[in-house]
Amino acid sequence: MSRTTEQMSGVLSYYKTPKKDSYYCGKLMGACHFGYMKPSLGDWEQFNPLEAQHNMRELLRESLALPRGACVLDAGSGYGVVAEHLRRYGGYNVYGIDLNQGRVSIADKYARARKSPDGSTNFIVGDYGRIPFLADSMHGVFTCETLCHAPYLEEVLGEFYRVLRPGGRLVLHEYTIPPLEEMNPLAQAIAKAMIKRTGMSSIHRFTHGAFPDILSGIGFRNIDVRDITEGVIPHWRMLFWQAVAENVLPGKRLPGSEINLTNTLASLGIYPTADLWNLWRYNIVSAEKPG
Ligand SMILES: C[S@@+](CC[C@H](N)C(=O)[O-])C[C@H]1O[C@@H](n2cnc3c(N)ncnc32)[C@H](O)[C@@H]1O
Repeated sequence: MSRTTEQMSGVLSYYKTPKKDSYYCGKLMGACHFGYMKPSLGDWEQFNPLEAQHNMRELLRESLALPRGACVLDAGSGYGVVAEHLRRYGGYNVYGIDLNQGRVSIADKYARARKSPDGSTNFIVGDYGRIPFLADSMHGVFTCETLCHAPYLEEVLGEFYRVLRPGGRLVLHEYTIPPLEEMNPLAQAIAKAMIKRTGMSSIHRFTHGAFPDILSGIGFRNIDVRDITEGVIPHWRMLFWQAVAENVLPGKRLPGSEINLTNTLASLGIYPTADLWNLWRYNIVSAEKPG
């Protein structure tokens, strides 16, 4: 069996289900990532997910810290919302790659609808573990909430390293967790269910504090890990209460709404285990290929 069908069956089946698209196009407003709100802003009742997702993309742009005209690889580009943001606000030329054909088509349409000039956002179907671009061709490479799905982590990071120019920037928006065996039994059961159902095959490698060693082993330097969990908690909390209202409280389900079991479990599981037990962290990891 090839790697694509065997090792990647979890992530392929998680993202191919149309119900997932209604989740991301509905609850996550077409962007397939969480939002960030400055912790000092306080009042979570004022939380606006669209604004928070915009803030998260701005954090990504600031971490890339590249000049206008830079060529950037968006690995796991989803619906192209992040790529379009970076084109619009950063002036980058963005090359998106995603396993999912349907998402790539939507990303193309999204860019056209926003009158993205020809060549400034480009999307292809493919595996970011086998990137069809030349060595030293990118000023930046980033992933936004997808690297945890890579079953062959070193190969993927090696590809990112290969396509980056010397001095190029890597940015990863990625979760970390404690070692599973150190979690209490309930948290461990929740984490294992989420990992299995969403195909997060490498997250067990992403223990708190592990990224510097993982990345320096590939050759990256100037590695920085910024824990921004506190600013992501409001989004996790909103999704938790939505999941409670729609799926747990009797008679509260909206007419026509479907239960998406995996995302409901994730919404119910991540907020309490992150906020109460401080288990899940959301990090911005950045690094450079030596110049
Ligand atoms: C949580 S979504 C994030 C999408 C996008 N980065 C965003 O923030 O809106 C994860 C995406 O990664 C893609 N993906 C997962 N593994 C991949 C791989 N090996 N190669 C390319 N894309 C992959 C999935 O198809 C999915 O679209």
